[in-house]
Amino acid sequence: MILILFLILIPIPILISDSDSNYSESDRIGEFLLSGSDAWERVDGVPFSPQAIHSPCYLNNATHQLCADESVHNVIVSFNFETGQFGEIPGPPGMTKDHANKTNYMTMVLLDGCLSIFDNYTNTTAFDVWKMNEYSVKESWSRAFVIDTTV
Ligand SMILES: *[C@@H]1O[C@H](CO)[C@@H](O)[C@H](O)[C@H]1NC(C)=O
Ligand SMILES: *[C@@H]1O[C@H](CO)[C@@H](O)[C@H](O)[C@H]1NC(C)=O
Ligand SMILES: *[C@@H]1O[C@H](CO)[C@@H](O)[C@H](O)[C@H]1NC(C)=O
Ligand SMILES: *[C@@H]1O[C@H](CO)[C@@H](O)[C@H](O)[C@H]1NC(C)=O
Ligand SMILES: *[C@@H]1O[C@H](CO)[C@@H](O)[C@H](O)[C@H]1NC(C)=O
Repeated sequence: MILILFLILIPIPILISDSDSNYSESDRIGEFLLSGSDAWERVDGVPFSPQAIHSPCYLNNATHQLCADESVHNVIVSFNFETGQFGEIPGPPGMTKDHANKTNYMTMVLLDGCLSIFDNYTNTTAFDVWKMNEYSVKESWSRAFVIDTTV
């Protein structure tokens, strides 16, 4: 079996200018490197730009990253290594504020084998811990814990 080793996403305008966060879908490319190969291969169909560095979670043959596009809320970007395709997974309902610039306040982890998000942004006095109990089922998000940060 061929193992895909690496995935990199390049929002092109960001390479040109740090301050310009406007870029369209056609500007996004994904590239991956197969083991035994010395060339990067291009993957099209990147739905939204993922936060490339922060807290990727591997589950069900796919990596998952919080979305870094300001235009959408509550989206997790997945890349499935078996199919070589990107996908979108809905985020938790309570995470309604724009969080694209708030990477330090949102962390994705696996809890009991479920995608979970620590949200230190929506509620200023507490950490909300959201858990997606059934993979890719929007309605299955629940607030598993609220950790009061004022005590
Ligand atoms: C991004 O696009 C919006 C809407 O077209 C525009 O108002 C804004 O000035 C643009 N931002 C940059 C940094 O170009
Ligand atoms: C992950 O990939 C393996 C090998 O192709 C496959 O047997 C399995 O069903 C996949 N699991 C999921 C959850 O897609
Ligand atoms: C996010 O950052 C961009 C670029 O610095 C800025 O234009 C935008 O207003 C910020 N959005 C929020 C919600 O802070
Ligand atoms: C949570 O957010 C507050 C600001 O609202 C900040 O002071 C605190 O350091 C954050 N905690 C973590 C763990 O990021
Ligand atoms: C925010 O967290 C506090 C606990 O610190 C809780 O009492 C309050 O209901 C929470 N607010 C929302 C909107 O969830």
